[in-house]
Amino acid sequence: MMDRNADAPWSEFDPEVYVDNNYRTPLEVDLKIVRLLRDHFSRCFAAAAPRSARGVDVGAGANLYPALSMLPWCEKILLLEYAPPNVAYLERQTAPGGLDATWDAFWEELCQAPAYRGIDPHTEVGQIVRVERANLFDLNGQRRWDVGTMFFVADSMSEDAEEFRQGVHCFMNALDASAPFAVAFMKQSQGYQVGEHRYPAYPVDAHRARQSLQPYAAELEIHDLRHTVRPGHEGILLALGRRNSAGGSS
Ligand SMILES: C[S@@+](CC[C@H](N)C(=O)[O-])C[C@H]1O[C@@H](n2cnc3c(N)ncnc32)[C@H](O)[C@@H]1O
Repeated sequence: MMDRNADAPWSEFDPEVYVDNNYRTPLEVDLKIVRLLRDHFSRCFAAAAPRSARGVDVGAGANLYPALSMLPWCEKILLLEYAPPNVAYLERQTAPGGLDATWDAFWEELCQAPAYRGIDPHTEVGQIVRVERANLFDLNGQRRWDVGTMFFVADSMSEDAEEFRQGVHCFMNALDASAPFAVAFMKQSQGYQVGEHRYPAYPVDAHRARQSLQPYAAELEIHDLRHTVRPGHEGILLALGRRNSAGGSS
């Protein structure tokens, strides 16, 4: 039977185990992603006033590096997350002085670009970043942001093709025209384990990633990163681009 988003045990998601599995020891592929994010946002915001954008990371889970990558340009960043244990994790990370040293290795990569220098994420995350419990599927275009990220969410929350498509649609519909964005998918994922619980995935290849995002994008590049982080997937797809003004009606 197909696992849909509402069927998965989100209230049992263990953020500490997830960080142990994925981020506590930084993987070369994540450091590469962070460098690509850094260069993409630096290019997109080259002419923008600092601290003028409102950013969003959708399905932030237990990953702070997408938010860190948006930090120099944002007056506010909102982390939207559905699973209550992940919301609690993010609230701890974004409390004053709460950012864990785990994220320093990722900040080191970001700091290689001028826009990030002179920012102390341990101070600024507490000032700029806020957390809200929300369901991606409830984003209906009423609320929109100037820059956004969605990492391993639309592909990693359901086995259903229609929910994958709807997840991409809801995220893209939450971005203003010309908003820079970054979206990551596990390539051809068969699902994943966090502690004792199994979570569903929808298999995405580079063609499907492009097909799903292109209707919403004015600019789009797909990076096919052939590093595997565990059995059951074939790499990581990182899509970088800018929102177009009209495309992608549901
Ligand atoms: C594989 S994790 C990715 C977490 C994080 N973004 C990262 O890069 O590691 C999938 C995330 O999607 C969240 N999620 C699942 N269903 C969701 C929904 N309907 N709305 C928002 N987030 C959801 C999960 O709670 C989890 O944090």
